[in-house]
Amino acid sequence: MKINITATSASRAETDLLVIGLIDQPKLPDSILELGNAMTEIIDGLVKRKLVKKEAKFVFIFPTLHKIPAKNIALVGLGKKNKLNANLMREIGGIITSAAAQHHLTHLTISPELLSFPAATLEGLLLANYQFHEFKTKHSPNLIKSIKQIDLTVLENQQKDYQKIVHQVETAVNATKFARDLVNRPPSLMHPQAIAQAASDLAKSGVITTTVFDRTKLAKMGAGAILAVAQGSQFDPYLIHLEYSPANAKKSVALVGKGVTFDSGGLSLKPSASMEDMKSDMAGAATVLGVFKALADLKPSVHVYGVIPVVENMISDKSIRVGDIVSTLSGKTVEIMNTDAEGRLILADALTYAEKLQPDAIIDFATLTGACIVALGDSFAGLMTRNSDMEKSLLQSSILTDEKLWPLPLPEIYIDKMKSSVADLSNIHKGNGGGAIMGGLFLQQFVNKTPFAHIDIAGPSFGKENINSFTPAGASGFGVRLMLDWLDNI
Ligand code: BES
Ligand code: MN
Ligand code: ZN
Repeated sequence: MKINITATSASRAETDLLVIGLIDQPKLPDSILELGNAMTEIIDGLVKRKLVKKEAKFVFIFPTLHKIPAKNIALVGLGKKNKLNANLMREIGGIITSAAAQHHLTHLTISPELLSFPAATLEGLLLANYQFHEFKTKHSPNLIKSIKQIDLTVLENQQKDYQKIVHQVETAVNATKFARDLVNRPPSLMHPQAIAQAASDLAKSGVITTTVFDRTKLAKMGAGAILAVAQGSQFDPYLIHLEYSPANAKKSVALVGKGVTFDSGGLSLKPSASMEDMKSDMAGAATVLGVFKALADLKPSVHVYGVIPVVENMISDKSIRVGDIVSTLSGKTVEIMNTDAEGRLILADALTYAEKLQPDAIIDFATLTGACIVALGDSFAGLMTRNSDMEKSLLQSSILTDEKLWPLPLPEIYIDKMKSSVADLSNIHKGNGGGAIMGGLFLQQFVNKTPFAHIDIAGPSFGKENINSFTPAGASGFGVRLMLDWLDNI
Protein backbone atom coordinates (compact mmCIF):
# COMPACT_ATOMS: atom_id res chain seq x y z
CA MET A 1 0.00 0.00 0.00
CA LYS A 2 1.31 3.38 -1.05
CA ILE A 3 0.16 6.56 0.68
CA ASN A 4 0.86 9.88 -1.01
CA ILE A 5 0.36 13.34 0.36
CA THR A 6 -0.65 15.66 -2.47
CA ALA A 7 -1.96 19.16 -3.12
CA THR A 8 -3.44 18.30 -6.53
CA SER A 9 -6.94 19.70 -6.99
CA ALA A 10 -9.96 17.41 -7.41
CA SER A 11 -10.41 18.45 -11.03
CA ARG A 12 -6.92 17.26 -11.94
CA ALA A 13 -6.53 14.15 -9.76
CA GLU A 14 -5.66 11.09 -11.83
CA THR A 15 -7.17 8.28 -9.84
CA ASP A 16 -9.60 5.34 -9.94
CA LEU A 17 -11.85 6.93 -7.35
CA LEU A 18 -12.10 10.54 -6.26
CA VAL A 19 -13.71 10.47 -2.82
CA ILE A 20 -15.68 13.60 -1.88
CA GLY A 21 -17.35 14.27 1.47
CA LEU A 22 -20.75 15.94 1.83
CA ILE A 23 -21.38 17.74 5.08
CA ASP A 24 -25.06 18.35 5.79
CA GLN A 25 -25.08 22.06 4.87
CA PRO A 26 -26.47 23.99 1.88
CA LYS A 27 -23.10 24.74 0.26
CA LEU A 28 -21.34 22.06 -1.78
CA PRO A 29 -17.63 21.56 -0.97
CA ASP A 30 -14.89 23.17 -3.10
CA SER A 31 -13.85 19.76 -4.39
CA ILE A 32 -17.22 19.61 -6.19
CA LEU A 33 -17.41 23.28 -7.20
CA GLU A 34 -14.02 23.14 -8.89
CA LEU A 35 -14.79 20.07 -11.01
CA GLY A 36 -16.21 22.16 -13.86
CA ASN A 37 -19.72 23.02 -14.90
CA ALA A 38 -21.09 19.76 -16.27
CA MET A 39 -19.81 17.61 -13.43
CA THR A 40 -20.76 20.10 -10.75
CA GLU A 41 -24.28 20.33 -12.17
CA ILE A 42 -24.73 16.57 -12.26
CA ILE A 43 -23.73 16.25 -8.62
CA ASP A 44 -25.89 19.22 -7.64
CA GLY A 45 -28.83 17.51 -9.38
CA LEU A 46 -28.19 14.21 -7.61
CA VAL A 47 -28.12 15.95 -4.26
CA LYS A 48 -31.22 18.08 -4.95
CA ARG A 49 -33.22 15.01 -6.02
CA LYS A 50 -32.00 13.24 -2.87
CA LEU A 51 -30.48 10.45 -4.94
CA VAL A 52 -27.37 11.33 -2.99
CA LYS A 53 -27.82 11.94 0.72
CA LYS A 54 -25.70 13.98 3.06
CA GLU A 55 -26.40 11.77 6.05
CA ALA A 56 -23.38 10.14 7.67
CA LYS A 57 -22.16 6.87 6.08
CA PHE A 58 -24.14 7.24 2.83
CA VAL A 59 -22.02 6.28 -0.21
CA PHE A 60 -22.76 6.70 -3.91
CA ILE A 61 -20.22 5.74 -6.59
CA PHE A 62 -20.56 6.66 -10.27
CA PRO A 63 -18.29 6.75 -13.36
CA THR A 64 -17.17 10.11 -14.77
CA LEU A 65 -16.94 8.86 -18.38
CA HIS A 66 -13.70 10.80 -19.04
CA LYS A 67 -15.24 14.20 -18.19
CA ILE A 68 -12.46 14.62 -15.58
CA PRO A 69 -9.18 12.71 -15.07
CA ALA A 70 -10.62 10.74 -12.10
CA LYS A 71 -12.34 7.63 -13.46
CA ASN A 72 -15.03 7.49 -10.76
CA ILE A 73 -16.42 9.67 -8.01
CA ALA A 74 -17.61 8.55 -4.57
CA LEU A 75 -19.93 10.94 -2.79
CA VAL A 76 -19.84 10.21 0.92
CA GLY A 77 -22.32 11.64 3.41
CA LEU A 78 -20.73 13.10 6.56
CA GLY A 79 -23.85 14.30 8.39
CA LYS A 80 -24.03 17.45 10.51
CA LYS A 81 -20.75 19.28 10.99
CA ASN A 82 -21.12 19.51 14.78
CA LYS A 83 -21.61 15.73 15.01
CA LEU A 84 -18.37 14.91 13.18
CA ASN A 85 -15.77 13.20 15.35
CA ALA A 86 -12.78 10.91 15.02
CA ASN A 87 -14.72 7.71 15.72
CA LEU A 88 -17.30 8.53 13.03
CA MET A 89 -14.55 9.36 10.53
CA ARG A 90 -12.77 6.08 11.27
CA GLU A 91 -16.05 4.27 10.60
CA ILE A 92 -16.55 6.24 7.36
CA GLY A 93 -12.97 5.47 6.30
CA GLY A 94 -13.79 1.78 6.62
CA ILE A 95 -17.00 2.19 4.62
CA ILE A 96 -15.09 3.93 1.79
CA THR A 97 -12.55 1.10 1.57
CA SER A 98 -15.24 -1.58 1.37
CA ALA A 99 -17.21 0.33 -1.27
CA ALA A 100 -14.08 0.91 -3.37
CA ALA A 101 -12.94 -2.69 -3.06
CA GLN A 102 -16.35 -4.00 -4.12
CA HIS A 103 -16.03 -1.97 -7.32
CA HIS A 104 -12.42 -3.17 -7.79
CA LEU A 105 -11.14 0.40 -7.54
CA THR A 106 -7.63 0.22 -6.11
CA HIS A 107 -6.36 3.82 -6.29
CA LEU A 108 -8.21 6.35 -4.11
CA THR A 109 -7.89 10.12 -3.81
CA ILE A 110 -9.31 11.54 -0.61
CA SER A 111 -10.56 15.14 -0.65
CA PRO A 112 -9.92 17.60 2.21
CA GLU A 113 -13.51 17.50 3.62
CA LEU A 114 -12.80 13.92 4.70
CA LEU A 115 -9.66 14.89 6.56
CA SER A 116 -10.95 16.94 9.50
CA PHE A 117 -9.71 14.03 11.65
CA PRO A 118 -7.01 12.81 9.30
CA ALA A 119 -5.51 10.07 11.50
CA ALA A 120 -8.93 8.53 12.13
CA THR A 121 -10.03 8.58 8.48
CA LEU A 122 -6.76 7.05 7.34
CA GLU A 123 -6.91 4.44 10.10
CA GLY A 124 -10.41 3.38 8.99
CA LEU A 125 -9.35 3.25 5.34
CA LEU A 126 -6.33 1.08 6.13
CA LEU A 127 -7.81 -1.18 8.83
CA ALA A 128 -10.71 -2.12 6.54
CA ASN A 129 -8.22 -3.04 3.81
CA TYR A 130 -7.51 -6.45 5.32
CA GLN A 131 -8.25 -9.96 4.21
CA PHE A 132 -6.79 -13.18 5.52
CA HIS A 133 -6.23 -15.09 2.29
CA GLU A 134 -3.11 -17.15 3.02
CA PHE A 135 -5.13 -20.32 2.51
CA LYS A 136 -7.39 -19.23 -0.34
CA THR A 137 -6.46 -20.81 -3.65
CA LYS A 138 -7.23 -19.54 -7.11
CA HIS A 139 -10.37 -21.69 -6.94
CA SER A 140 -11.88 -19.41 -4.31
CA PRO A 141 -14.60 -17.21 -5.80
CA ASN A 142 -15.10 -13.54 -4.88
CA LEU A 143 -11.62 -12.66 -3.68
CA ILE A 144 -11.97 -8.88 -3.38
CA LYS A 145 -9.10 -6.76 -4.69
CA SER A 146 -7.33 -4.75 -2.04
CA ILE A 147 -6.54 -1.07 -2.30
CA LYS A 148 -3.05 -0.30 -3.58
CA GLN A 149 -2.72 3.48 -3.34
CA ILE A 150 -4.29 6.30 -1.37
CA ASP A 151 -3.63 9.97 -2.14
CA LEU A 152 -4.51 12.41 0.63
CA THR A 153 -5.30 15.90 -0.66
CA VAL A 154 -3.96 18.52 1.74
CA LEU A 155 -2.77 22.12 1.66
CA GLU A 156 0.91 22.63 0.80
CA ASN A 157 1.79 23.95 4.27
CA GLN A 158 0.27 20.90 5.99
CA GLN A 159 2.35 18.30 4.22
CA LYS A 160 4.93 17.95 6.96
CA ASP A 161 2.34 17.34 9.71
CA TYR A 162 0.72 14.74 7.51
CA GLN A 163 3.96 12.81 7.06
CA LYS A 164 4.07 12.20 10.78
CA ILE A 165 0.40 11.21 10.94
CA VAL A 166 0.78 8.79 8.05
CA HIS A 167 3.80 7.16 9.66
CA GLN A 168 2.05 6.71 13.01
CA VAL A 169 -1.17 5.41 11.52
CA GLU A 170 0.59 3.03 9.15
CA THR A 171 2.66 1.61 12.00
CA ALA A 172 -0.35 1.06 14.28
CA VAL A 173 -2.40 -0.47 11.46
CA ASN A 174 0.38 -2.80 10.34
CA ALA A 175 0.85 -3.95 13.93
CA THR A 176 -2.90 -4.60 14.21
CA LYS A 177 -2.86 -6.60 10.96
CA PHE A 178 0.18 -8.53 12.19
CA ALA A 179 -1.83 -9.50 15.31
CA ARG A 180 -4.85 -10.41 13.15
CA ASP A 181 -2.72 -12.73 11.00
CA LEU A 182 -1.30 -14.52 14.05
CA VAL A 183 -4.82 -15.20 15.34
CA ASN A 184 -6.37 -16.11 11.99
CA ARG A 185 -3.77 -18.75 11.16
CA PRO A 186 -4.81 -22.33 11.94
CA PRO A 187 -3.80 -23.71 15.35
CA SER A 188 -1.75 -26.60 13.94
CA LEU A 189 0.61 -23.99 12.48
CA MET A 190 0.31 -21.29 15.14
CA HIS A 191 1.48 -23.63 17.92
CA PRO A 192 3.44 -22.43 20.95
CA GLN A 193 6.79 -22.70 19.19
CA ALA A 194 5.52 -20.66 16.24
CA ILE A 195 4.53 -17.87 18.63
CA ALA A 196 7.93 -18.03 20.29
CA GLN A 197 9.47 -17.80 16.81
CA ALA A 198 7.33 -14.76 15.96
CA ALA A 199 8.53 -13.13 19.19
CA SER A 200 12.16 -13.95 18.39
CA ASP A 201 11.75 -12.54 14.87
CA LEU A 202 10.73 -9.19 16.39
CA ALA A 203 14.17 -9.00 17.99
CA LYS A 204 15.69 -8.78 14.51
CA SER A 205 14.68 -5.11 14.51
CA GLY A 206 17.56 -4.58 16.94
CA VAL A 207 15.37 -2.45 19.21
CA ILE A 208 13.74 -5.37 21.05
CA THR A 209 15.21 -8.32 22.91
CA THR A 210 13.45 -11.67 23.22
CA THR A 211 14.17 -14.46 25.70
CA VAL A 212 12.31 -17.75 25.48
CA PHE A 213 12.07 -20.12 28.47
CA ASP A 214 11.47 -23.74 27.49
CA ARG A 215 10.05 -26.67 29.47
CA THR A 216 13.33 -27.38 31.31
CA LYS A 217 13.75 -23.74 32.32
CA LEU A 218 10.10 -23.46 33.34
CA ALA A 219 10.52 -26.50 35.60
CA LYS A 220 13.66 -25.03 37.14
CA MET A 221 11.91 -21.71 37.66
CA GLY A 222 8.89 -23.39 39.28
CA ALA A 223 6.27 -22.33 36.74
CA GLY A 224 4.08 -25.31 37.64
CA ALA A 225 0.84 -23.87 36.29
CA ILE A 226 2.15 -23.34 32.76
CA LEU A 227 3.60 -26.86 32.75
CA ALA A 228 0.34 -28.35 34.08
CA VAL A 229 -1.85 -26.86 31.36
CA ALA A 230 0.61 -27.96 28.65
CA GLN A 231 0.78 -31.57 29.89
CA GLY A 232 -1.81 -32.96 27.49
CA SER A 233 -0.32 -31.45 24.33
CA GLN A 234 2.26 -32.76 21.87
CA PHE A 235 3.63 -29.20 21.83
CA ASP A 236 6.08 -27.88 24.40
CA PRO A 237 5.06 -24.78 26.39
CA TYR A 238 7.14 -21.60 26.54
CA LEU A 239 7.29 -18.40 28.51
CA ILE A 240 8.33 -15.53 26.28
CA HIS A 241 9.97 -12.40 27.68
CA LEU A 242 10.21 -9.40 25.35
CA GLU A 243 11.82 -6.14 26.24
CA TYR A 244 11.99 -2.67 24.78
CA SER A 245 14.19 -0.39 26.86
CA PRO A 246 14.85 3.08 25.46
CA ALA A 247 17.56 5.11 27.17
CA ASN A 248 15.20 7.98 28.05
CA ALA A 249 12.48 5.86 29.72
CA LYS A 250 11.00 7.22 32.95
CA LYS A 251 8.37 4.52 33.47
CA SER A 252 8.12 0.82 32.86
CA VAL A 253 5.12 -1.32 32.00
CA ALA A 254 4.66 -5.08 31.68
CA LEU A 255 2.17 -6.32 29.10
CA VAL A 256 1.04 -9.89 29.66
CA GLY A 257 -0.85 -11.85 26.98
CA LYS A 258 -2.71 -15.16 27.22
CA GLY A 259 -1.28 -17.51 24.62
CA VAL A 260 -3.39 -20.66 24.44
CA THR A 261 -2.86 -21.69 20.82
CA PHE A 262 -5.87 -23.98 20.93
CA ASP A 263 -8.31 -24.44 23.80
CA SER A 264 -10.09 -27.79 23.59
CA GLY A 265 -11.02 -27.39 27.25
CA GLY A 266 -8.80 -30.35 28.18
CA LEU A 267 -10.53 -33.20 30.02
CA SER A 268 -13.34 -30.75 30.87
CA LEU A 269 -13.88 -30.87 27.13
CA LYS A 270 -15.71 -28.05 25.38
CA PRO A 271 -18.81 -28.85 23.32
CA SER A 272 -18.12 -28.63 19.55
CA ALA A 273 -19.77 -25.26 19.00
CA SER A 274 -17.76 -23.66 21.82
CA MET A 275 -14.53 -25.01 20.31
CA GLU A 276 -15.04 -23.51 16.84
CA ASP A 277 -13.13 -20.28 17.47
CA MET A 278 -10.62 -21.58 20.00
CA LYS A 279 -7.65 -20.99 17.70
CA SER A 280 -8.23 -17.39 18.83
CA ASP A 281 -7.39 -18.18 22.47
CA MET A 282 -3.94 -16.71 21.88
CA ALA A 283 -5.36 -13.31 20.90
CA GLY A 284 -3.93 -11.73 24.06
CA ALA A 285 -0.47 -12.95 23.07
CA ALA A 286 -1.03 -11.55 19.57
CA THR A 287 -1.98 -8.17 21.04
CA VAL A 288 1.27 -7.99 23.00
CA LEU A 289 3.30 -9.08 19.97
CA GLY A 290 1.48 -6.51 17.83
CA VAL A 291 2.38 -3.76 20.30
CA PHE A 292 6.04 -4.81 20.22
CA LYS A 293 6.03 -4.83 16.42
CA ALA A 294 5.02 -1.16 16.50
CA LEU A 295 7.36 -0.16 19.36
CA ALA A 296 10.39 -0.75 17.17
CA ASP A 297 9.02 1.92 14.81
CA LEU A 298 7.33 4.41 17.12
CA LYS A 299 10.04 4.36 19.81
CA PRO A 300 8.05 5.83 22.72
CA SER A 301 10.02 6.80 25.84
CA VAL A 302 8.67 4.07 28.10
CA HIS A 303 10.29 0.80 29.11
CA VAL A 304 8.00 -2.05 27.99
CA TYR A 305 8.16 -5.70 28.99
CA GLY A 306 6.14 -8.35 27.20
CA VAL A 307 5.39 -11.56 29.10
CA ILE A 308 3.63 -14.27 27.12
CA PRO A 309 2.92 -17.80 28.34
CA VAL A 310 2.19 -20.08 25.37
CA VAL A 311 0.59 -23.51 25.64
CA GLU A 312 -1.95 -25.71 23.93
CA ASN A 313 -4.83 -26.96 26.11
CA MET A 314 -5.29 -30.47 24.78
CA ILE A 315 -6.94 -33.69 25.77
CA SER A 316 -4.88 -36.87 26.18
CA ASP A 317 -3.88 -39.44 28.79
CA LYS A 318 -1.18 -36.98 29.85
CA SER A 319 -3.65 -34.14 30.46
CA ILE A 320 -3.95 -32.49 33.82
CA ARG A 321 -6.84 -34.08 35.74
CA VAL A 322 -9.74 -32.57 37.61
CA GLY A 323 -8.71 -32.74 41.26
CA ASP A 324 -5.02 -32.35 40.55
CA ILE A 325 -3.19 -29.65 42.50
CA VAL A 326 -0.54 -27.49 40.87
CA SER A 327 2.12 -25.42 42.53
CA THR A 328 2.40 -22.03 40.85
CA LEU A 329 5.48 -19.86 40.40
CA SER A 330 4.20 -17.65 43.23
CA GLY A 331 4.31 -20.60 45.63
CA LYS A 332 0.51 -20.64 45.93
CA THR A 333 -1.20 -23.96 45.18
CA VAL A 334 -4.27 -24.28 42.96
CA GLU A 335 -6.74 -27.15 42.79
CA ILE A 336 -7.88 -27.82 39.23
CA MET A 337 -11.64 -28.16 39.35
CA ASN A 338 -12.14 -27.49 35.63
CA THR A 339 -9.37 -27.94 33.05
CA ASP A 340 -11.14 -25.41 30.80
CA ALA A 341 -10.27 -22.59 33.20
CA GLU A 342 -6.69 -22.82 31.90
CA GLY A 343 -6.01 -19.21 30.98
CA ARG A 344 -5.92 -17.99 34.57
CA LEU A 345 -3.45 -20.78 35.41
CA ILE A 346 -0.83 -19.86 32.83
CA LEU A 347 -1.43 -16.16 33.53
CA ALA A 348 -0.87 -16.74 37.26
CA ASP A 349 2.71 -17.78 36.53
CA ALA A 350 3.14 -15.04 33.93
CA LEU A 351 1.92 -12.35 36.37
CA THR A 352 4.30 -13.55 39.09
CA TYR A 353 7.11 -13.45 36.56
CA ALA A 354 6.04 -9.97 35.41
CA GLU A 355 5.91 -8.55 38.94
CA LYS A 356 9.46 -9.75 39.61
CA LEU A 357 10.58 -7.39 36.83
CA GLN A 358 9.36 -4.54 39.08
CA PRO A 359 7.41 -2.60 36.46
CA ASP A 360 5.36 0.46 37.42
CA ALA A 361 2.21 -1.21 36.06
CA ILE A 362 1.02 -4.55 34.72
CA ILE A 363 -1.72 -5.00 32.13
CA ASP A 364 -2.89 -8.37 30.87
CA PHE A 365 -4.87 -9.12 27.73
CA ALA A 366 -6.70 -12.42 27.82
CA THR A 367 -9.56 -14.24 26.11
CA LEU A 368 -10.38 -15.37 29.61
CA THR A 369 -14.11 -16.00 29.98
CA GLY A 370 -17.24 -16.65 27.95
CA ALA A 371 -18.98 -14.91 30.84
CA CYS A 372 -17.44 -11.60 29.78
CA ILE A 373 -19.19 -11.96 26.41
CA VAL A 374 -22.46 -12.69 28.23
CA ALA A 375 -21.95 -9.54 30.31
CA LEU A 376 -20.78 -7.07 27.66
CA GLY A 377 -21.48 -8.57 24.23
CA ASP A 378 -18.87 -8.91 21.52
CA SER A 379 -17.89 -5.26 21.09
CA PHE A 380 -16.64 -4.53 24.61
CA ALA A 381 -13.69 -5.90 26.52
CA GLY A 382 -14.05 -6.05 30.30
CA LEU A 383 -11.66 -3.78 32.21
CA MET A 384 -10.90 -4.89 35.76
CA THR A 385 -8.56 -2.89 37.95
CA ARG A 386 -8.33 -1.59 41.50
CA ASN A 387 -6.16 1.30 40.37
CA SER A 388 -8.27 4.33 39.54
CA ASP A 389 -5.49 6.08 37.59
CA MET A 390 -5.11 3.08 35.32
CA GLU A 391 -8.87 2.82 34.91
CA LYS A 392 -9.10 6.47 33.94
CA SER A 393 -6.22 6.48 31.48
CA LEU A 394 -7.23 3.18 29.87
CA LEU A 395 -10.82 4.37 29.41
CA GLN A 396 -9.46 7.56 27.86
CA SER A 397 -7.41 5.57 25.33
CA SER A 398 -10.45 3.38 24.73
CA ILE A 399 -12.54 6.37 23.69
CA LEU A 400 -9.80 7.78 21.46
CA THR A 401 -9.12 4.51 19.64
CA ASP A 402 -12.71 3.20 19.72
CA GLU A 403 -11.38 -0.07 21.13
CA LYS A 404 -14.23 -0.42 23.58
CA LEU A 405 -13.59 -1.12 27.27
CA TRP A 406 -16.14 -1.27 30.05
CA PRO A 407 -15.21 -1.37 33.74
CA LEU A 408 -16.14 -4.33 35.92
CA PRO A 409 -15.36 -4.63 39.65
CA LEU A 410 -12.85 -6.87 41.43
CA PRO A 411 -14.77 -7.25 44.70
CA GLU A 412 -12.84 -8.68 47.64
CA ILE A 413 -16.12 -9.99 49.11
CA TYR A 414 -16.21 -12.75 46.47
CA ILE A 415 -12.74 -14.12 47.15
CA ASP A 416 -14.01 -16.90 49.43
CA LYS A 417 -15.80 -18.39 46.44
CA MET A 418 -12.38 -19.03 44.84
CA LYS A 419 -10.95 -20.94 47.82
CA SER A 420 -10.32 -24.68 47.76
CA SER A 421 -10.67 -27.03 50.73
CA VAL A 422 -7.39 -28.80 49.87
CA ALA A 423 -5.27 -26.09 48.18
CA ASP A 424 -4.84 -22.31 48.51
CA LEU A 425 -7.17 -21.58 45.61
CA SER A 426 -9.51 -23.37 43.21
CA ASN A 427 -9.34 -22.48 39.52
CA ILE A 428 -13.13 -22.04 39.36
CA HIS A 429 -15.53 -20.34 41.72
CA LYS A 430 -18.36 -21.83 43.72
CA GLY A 431 -21.89 -20.86 42.79
CA ASN A 432 -23.20 -19.21 39.66
CA GLY A 433 -22.69 -15.86 38.09
CA GLY A 434 -19.98 -13.25 37.84
CA GLY A 435 -17.69 -15.45 35.75
CA ALA A 436 -15.72 -12.58 34.21
CA ILE A 437 -14.92 -10.90 37.52
CA MET A 438 -14.15 -14.23 39.18
CA GLY A 439 -11.49 -14.73 36.52
CA GLY A 440 -10.15 -11.25 37.24
CA LEU A 441 -10.23 -11.85 40.98
CA PHE A 442 -8.22 -15.05 40.54
CA LEU A 443 -5.55 -13.18 38.54
CA GLN A 444 -5.42 -10.36 41.10
CA GLN A 445 -4.24 -12.94 43.69
CA PHE A 446 -0.97 -13.20 41.78
CA VAL A 447 -0.15 -9.48 41.77
CA ASN A 448 0.92 -8.26 45.19
CA LYS A 449 1.55 -4.55 45.03
CA THR A 450 2.01 -3.42 41.44
CA PRO A 451 -0.83 -1.39 39.87
CA PHE A 452 -2.62 -3.98 37.75
CA ALA A 453 -5.34 -4.05 35.11
CA HIS A 454 -6.91 -7.15 33.60
CA ILE A 455 -8.56 -6.80 30.19
CA ASP A 456 -10.83 -9.69 29.17
CA ILE A 457 -10.94 -9.61 25.36
CA ALA A 458 -12.98 -12.80 24.82
CA GLY A 459 -15.69 -10.74 23.07
CA PRO A 460 -13.98 -8.25 20.76
CA SER A 461 -10.85 -10.23 19.80
CA PHE A 462 -12.59 -12.49 17.31
CA GLY A 463 -15.91 -12.33 15.51
CA LYS A 464 -17.97 -14.54 13.25
CA GLU A 465 -19.30 -11.38 11.58
CA ASN A 466 -17.80 -7.97 10.82
CA ILE A 467 -17.56 -6.04 14.08
CA ASN A 468 -17.66 -2.62 12.40
CA SER A 469 -16.70 -1.11 9.04
CA PHE A 470 -12.97 -1.40 9.72
CA THR A 471 -12.91 -4.73 11.57
CA PRO A 472 -13.76 -7.61 9.28
CA ALA A 473 -14.92 -11.01 10.60
CA GLY A 474 -12.23 -13.15 12.19
CA ALA A 475 -9.44 -11.70 14.28
CA SER A 476 -9.68 -8.00 15.13
CA GLY A 477 -6.23 -7.28 16.56
CA PHE A 478 -8.06 -5.69 19.50
CA GLY A 479 -5.86 -3.90 22.01
CA VAL A 480 -2.91 -3.00 19.81
CA ARG A 481 -4.09 0.52 18.99
CA LEU A 482 -5.43 0.93 22.53
CA MET A 483 -2.04 0.11 24.04
CA LEU A 484 -0.05 2.22 21.59
CA ASP A 485 -2.20 5.21 22.47
CA TRP A 486 -1.91 4.47 26.20
CA LEU A 487 1.88 4.01 26.08
CA ASP A 488 2.14 7.28 24.20
CA ASN A 489 0.28 9.16 26.93
CA ILE A 490 1.56 7.85 30.25
N1 BES B 1 -10.84 -19.48 26.26
C1 BES B 1 -11.97 -19.62 27.08
C2 BES B 1 -12.85 -18.38 27.15
C3 BES B 1 -13.51 -17.96 25.86
C4 BES B 1 -14.80 -18.35 25.59
C5 BES B 1 -12.86 -17.13 24.98
C6 BES B 1 -15.42 -17.94 24.42
C7 BES B 1 -13.48 -16.71 23.80
C8 BES B 1 -14.76 -17.12 23.52
C9 BES B 1 -11.52 -19.94 28.51
O1 BES B 1 -10.36 -20.68 28.62
C10 BES B 1 -12.59 -20.76 29.13
O2 BES B 1 -12.83 -21.84 28.67
N2 BES B 1 -13.23 -20.22 30.16
C11 BES B 1 -14.27 -20.88 30.84
C12 BES B 1 -14.09 -20.61 32.30
C13 BES B 1 -14.92 -21.49 33.19
C14 BES B 1 -14.53 -22.93 33.05
C15 BES B 1 -14.75 -21.01 34.61
C16 BES B 1 -15.59 -20.35 30.32
O3 BES B 1 -15.69 -19.19 29.96
O4 BES B 1 -16.54 -21.14 30.25
MN1 MN C 1 -10.68 -22.74 28.48
ZN1 ZN D 1 -9.05 -20.47 27.11
